[in-house]
Amino acid sequence: MAQDDLKRIAAHRAVDLVESGMVLGLGTGSTAVHALDRLGELIRRGVLRDIVGIPTSKKTEAHARSVGIPLTDLNANPVVDLSIDGADEVDPHLNLVKGRGGSLLREKMIEGASRRFVVIVDETKMVNRLGGSGLAVPVEVIPFGWNFTMGKLRRLFDHVEGFDLKLRTEAGDEKAPSVTDNSNYVVDLFFENGIRGDLEEISDAILKIVGVVEHGMFLGLATSVIIARKDGGVTVMK
Ligand code: A5P
Repeated sequence: MAQDDLKRIAAHRAVDLVESGMVLGLGTGSTAVHALDRLGELIRRGVLRDIVGIPTSKKTEAHARSVGIPLTDLNANPVVDLSIDGADEVDPHLNLVKGRGGSLLREKMIEGASRRFVVIVDETKMVNRLGGSGLAVPVEVIPFGWNFTMGKLRRLFDHVEGFDLKLRTEAGDEKAPSVTDNSNYVVDLFFENGIRGDLEEISDAILKIVGVVEHGMFLGLATSVIIARKDGGVTVMK
């Protein structure tokens, strides 16, 4: 089965949990977009009523509008009933890496305010250790002094074998930093052997650096993970 079909299967399974009247956190990415499409369809058919969504990115906001999902924000609705979003990595304890698409800050605010946060992935996202896929663990930093902040991050992980980091740039233009929805930059951290040690302590150490806004490790936030398997079946981790 194609990877996109698996993403759709996981997304539809999550939307089955949505009930009329809910405030929803609307995720970002190629998996979450299937959830948006399905929600829009069920709202148009009148199966779901009085739904309001809080988008986790400008891209999601635009897509949600285009499929007819009514929108609100965290100021008006500080408690979210259910958030549905993809992830870049999921470990066996339901900890996540998110933000490879650049939207981690709004995602963490909205998903952290949710009574339930359901993660939707295909099985390629499962790892034994965060960072273990060899892909980026993103950190959102303010543009002012970004190289200074990056130096602090480098020093924090200097002792870690196989560690590297890089300012994220626009595809095809190494000189243009990627800019988030919050007008910040992203520094991507790479851990050749995955992140070893106490994740909460590592999270605190990153957040202590002045200039860091947030990072893409989502620890203890997911309440369940819906995993679409290559054989077409679905596994739910809680
Ligand atoms: C957006 O920045 C991310 O946090 C996404 O949720 C994550 O990258 C998963 O995206 P895909 O569903 O496209 O893999």
